[in-house]
Amino acid sequence: MTSMPVHKYQPFPKINNPHRRWPDRRITRSPTWCSVDLRDGNQALRVPMNLDEKLAFFSLLLELGFKEIEIGFPAAAAVEFAFLRKLIDDALIPEAVSVQVLTQAKSDQIQKTFDALKGAKKAIYHLYNSTSTVQRDVVFNMSRSEIIQLAVNATKEIKVTADSLPATEIVFEYSPESFTGTELDFALEICEAVMDVWQPTPDKKAIINLPATVEMSTPNIFADMIEWFSGHFSRRDSIILSVHTHNDRGTGVAATELALLAGAERVEGTIFGNGERTGNVDIVTLALNMFSQGVDPQLVFQDINRVAEVYQECTSMPIHPRHPYVGELVYTAFSGSHQDAIKKGISAYDDTEARLWNVPYLPIDPRDLGRTYEKIIQINSQSGKGGVAYIMESHFGYKIPKNMYPELGEIVQREVDRTGEEIQPHEIHALFKKAYLEVNTPFRFIDCEIRTRGKETTLRAQLEIENEPVTISGWGNGPLDALGSALNKGNHAHFKLISYSEHALNETISASAAAYIEIECWGKKTFGVGIDDNIAIASIKALISALNRVETALPFPLGLVSDHQRLEQKSDCSL
Ligand code: KIV
Ligand code: ZN
Repeated sequence: MTSMPVHKYQPFPKINNPHRRWPDRRITRSPTWCSVDLRDGNQALRVPMNLDEKLAFFSLLLELGFKEIEIGFPAAAAVEFAFLRKLIDDALIPEAVSVQVLTQAKSDQIQKTFDALKGAKKAIYHLYNSTSTVQRDVVFNMSRSEIIQLAVNATKEIKVTADSLPATEIVFEYSPESFTGTELDFALEICEAVMDVWQPTPDKKAIINLPATVEMSTPNIFADMIEWFSGHFSRRDSIILSVHTHNDRGTGVAATELALLAGAERVEGTIFGNGERTGNVDIVTLALNMFSQGVDPQLVFQDINRVAEVYQECTSMPIHPRHPYVGELVYTAFSGSHQDAIKKGISAYDDTEARLWNVPYLPIDPRDLGRTYEKIIQINSQSGKGGVAYIMESHFGYKIPKNMYPELGEIVQREVDRTGEEIQPHEIHALFKKAYLEVNTPFRFIDCEIRTRGKETTLRAQLEIENEPVTISGWGNGPLDALGSALNKGNHAHFKLISYSEHALNETISASAAAYIEIECWGKKTFGVGIDDNIAIASIKALISALNRVETALPFPLGLVSDHQRLEQKSDCSL
């Protein structure tokens, strides 16, 4: 037993829903989305949005495709009144979009809300009152029937006033606020009473919105509540069943998804989950979860970074780097095995005809959201060699041979271990250049003349060895063979060629070809890299790079191979 005061809490009661059907269902279409960013989200900001920010946010919501947008409490907040008036007076609300206004069950608020709505073409008039046991007992000190009466009276007033505004198409919405803390039979009773007044029909539906004002149970229980309500409400075909979840237990998205399985048809939420306390349900996550299952979310997030930018500018709220789909790090793999799998998965996807996304560790293609996978792979102390090779190819065009991965990976790893920080692609490139392209001792390439007659190549190379100009010449069955024999002949170096590869480079690099050579000398295998416009010269530079790298790995200078002592140490290092 810990010292946590667990005795203060009790489990949320189970719902009697023995014929539940939601567990076997799937989400096959998107719900109607209603953004409450400009109300629930705005109220939850340290500094609420000003008019300009609200306007910018509103146009972002339109761009994303929202057709229902809650403006807020025009009767309670002057800025929300002014904002709604501006939208209406400046004709900023597209035909297909309904603005939603919220009011408590208070006569003065109801009338003022209608004033704010004058001239609007389509509106959702949202009435709520709190119905939970604790609010009834502790806050309002009202009985069940008094709470019902409050809602019924307000609904009557709204109905009469709405009828006198024929130019505005009004959809009525009722929320038994704090539904999750309300006995189900009472929630049903009050919603029935309200809709008895409103008299919705299948052609003119009203919205019943069941809010998890406070998330109080596991999502399966919330789904049972929604399914129970949906199955018991008498005018089911005349209402749109909506949910409005908060995220107190961190399961707002799951609760909403299960509620959709259980019969909900509409979702109120905010983008990126802003809202009171732990926030409202995150509509971006919900919509992209659907998208990742092949369901059209009816919202467009093709430039998710811009959405995030506008959101952050307007709200001054940060987005967590691990926020699903949008966080800075969500398309980034640090672990080597993940990097390797992603690299293979993306190549396989790009080569496939089927076009069905199936890449390890990436539930969706970042490109669909305007993100690139260039930044997917970053290297830190936990990364593997495949990631380094991927960066070298994707950013700089070098196709590092597979058996060179460990050597280059170790160079990068050493640096990462030294700094203890993530390393950026340009830093990897700098390490690569320093290790392979800028190693000039003891051998420095100056110039070279290559002649080929039939199968024989002769080579005359000018080098500096230990800063001394040296001209060497040799012949063989190719430039590398010829250089090897020239170095061998002059006792400058003895080595065995292990592997060779070359490829053309793209225009971002100052040379057009790259060559990679692996040699073995004194039991040590090392790679070298050369780049040049001439592929034969690139290969010669690669060999010199490898020799210089061997030199740094050996306990004695390579340039002194004629030294008898070292030759005595035995050598399989001959060409
Ligand atoms: O969270 C809530 O219950 C609300 C209602 C007004 C719907 O925001
Ligand atoms: Zn809310």
